[in-house]
Amino acid sequence: MAKVTVVGAGNVGATCANVLAFNKIADTVVMLDVKAGVAEGKAIDMLQTAHTLGFETQIVGVTSDYKATADSDVVIVTSGIPRKPGMTREELIGTNAGIVKSVIFSCLEHSPNAIFVIISNPMDTMTYLTLKASGLPKNRVIGMGGTLDSARFRYYLSQALNANPSQIQASVIGGHGDTTMIPLKRLATYNGTPVCKLLPADQLDKVVADTMVGGATLTGLLGTSAWYAPGAAGAYVAESIINNYKRVIPSCVYLEGEYGENDICIGVPAVIGRNGVSSIIDVQLNDEEKALFAKSAEAVRKTNQVLFEINAL
Ligand code: LAC
Repeated sequence: MAKVTVVGAGNVGATCANVLAFNKIADTVVMLDVKAGVAEGKAIDMLQTAHTLGFETQIVGVTSDYKATADSDVVIVTSGIPRKPGMTREELIGTNAGIVKSVIFSCLEHSPNAIFVIISNPMDTMTYLTLKASGLPKNRVIGMGGTLDSARFRYYLSQALNANPSQIQASVIGGHGDTTMIPLKRLATYNGTPVCKLLPADQLDKVVADTMVGGATLTGLLGTSAWYAPGAAGAYVAESIINNYKRVIPSCVYLEGEYGENDICIGVPAVIGRNGVSSIIDVQLNDEEKALFAKSAEAVRKTNQVLFEINAL
């Protein structure tokens, strides 16, 4: 059992905390928010479900009091502004870079051994910022985007196949952006059979296209960024860390030569366990997928460059 801090008690952070408690992933969850009363109120509201839902997790809500986060095993960062309809994740960088950086420093002061799971957008760039600004070893900084994008890929495949999503194996690699993510349609399977044998090419291409704009579709419907799947995805990564499950999770991690890239945090399948990233899985991509990955990395690197332009790094 473990202590987890969730920074940001907005929709995503609160959902994440709720899943951590309800699924008994952590024995203590600290939610922290800059808005007075929000984390406190949501923590009490969740605690009032403990009897009904049957969990014992302690949930603490605080306003910017980092002392309460001390000795966390995992810190999940959701802070920052979410995107509004029509906005890209990349447009949030100016505001969110400053917020994320100060959150990381405050958390590290009280939890020097924590593993960081980054959800704030633009997620790939915020993960890179966390790693570079903190100087943490690369195994301790994980961006959550691929977990969520792969869950969306599974969802759209399950709809097209009229099948149970848990019987589908599907990964999304590359950046967590509408044009940078790469749903690996060639490698997706349903109960061991490649989905490209089960769906006509045009239908599979529509699944891929829908997956890529999955977040934007929800932002259009909701008027703000989605939260159930993003929050649950953060808890899923934390669970693999806490219980040393060694799940292979498409995660935004630092590459040093893997997939032909260097000095970048971007989505690739990684084994996630007690020490965070224990290894990166080298999936054999074909030439088309390699080209897409290189293009995606170029776009992520361009967004990372803004960090230097605004002196965040
Ligand atoms: C999304 C946000 C959380 O994809 O990036 O819904």
